[in-house]
Amino acid sequence: MKISIISGSHRNPSQSEKVARHVEQTLQQDHGVDTWLFSLADNPLPLWDQSLWEDNPDWNERLAPIKEHLAASDGFVIVSPEWHGQVPAGLKNFFLLFNRFELGHKPAMIVAVSSADGGAYPVAELRMSSYKNNRICYIPEHVIVRNVEKVLNDNASDNDADADGYFRERISWSLGILKGYAQAMKPMRETARVHHDKFGNGM
Ligand SMILES: Cc1cc2nc3c(=O)[nH]c(=O)nc-3n(C[C@H](O)[C@H](O)[C@H](O)COP(=O)(O)O)c2cc1C
Repeated sequence: MKISIISGSHRNPSQSEKVARHVEQTLQQDHGVDTWLFSLADNPLPLWDQSLWEDNPDWNERLAPIKEHLAASDGFVIVSPEWHGQVPAGLKNFFLLFNRFELGHKPAMIVAVSSADGGAYPVAELRMSSYKNNRICYIPEHVIVRNVEKVLNDNASDNDADADGYFRERISWSLGILKGYAQAMKPMRETARVHHDKFGNGM
């Protein structure tokens, strides 16, 4: 079982990447899952352009190794900061570049990140508008890491002990649910006709 974690912040370093690394460690240690972490720090992916649809060899070469990891994944964790009440543009770009052959009909858990009391908007935005053509399946369970600077730090003295304990426990439990969906949905993809030439895009 392999779960890929996408860290959606362009900042380097970022709190989202800190959270993504904690998620990665928890998947490995608590759930025995193989992981791949892809960080959008410093914008490793160019913005979508028309040549992507024209078999551009540069795009093909650049995306091939990432596609390979995503296609081999049984599920995803999408970590998104709230930036001006939105998902960062680089993360929305990610959803333009990868499609149903990499993400389709695989479960994904949203982890939103806020330095204060925000974090609800990325959850709403991702659930509303990032899945139509790629068919990623967001599970009902999500996590909003509020006051993120005070939790999940390696140095315990930087943490609010109560909040830190709560998020560590909740993240691990939620990832167990994600793993359950990942196990359950694999046979579904193998038996149902999930790709149809006539219906390449969602409605
Ligand atoms: C451009 C920008 C806009 C932001 N807007 C919001 C916001 O609307 N709501 C919020 O709760 N935090 C906002 N923040 C603060 C982030 O929650 C904070 O930076 C947090 O660490 C998560 O972002 P990071 O993963 O990039 O570090 C914003 C941060 C940036 C850089």
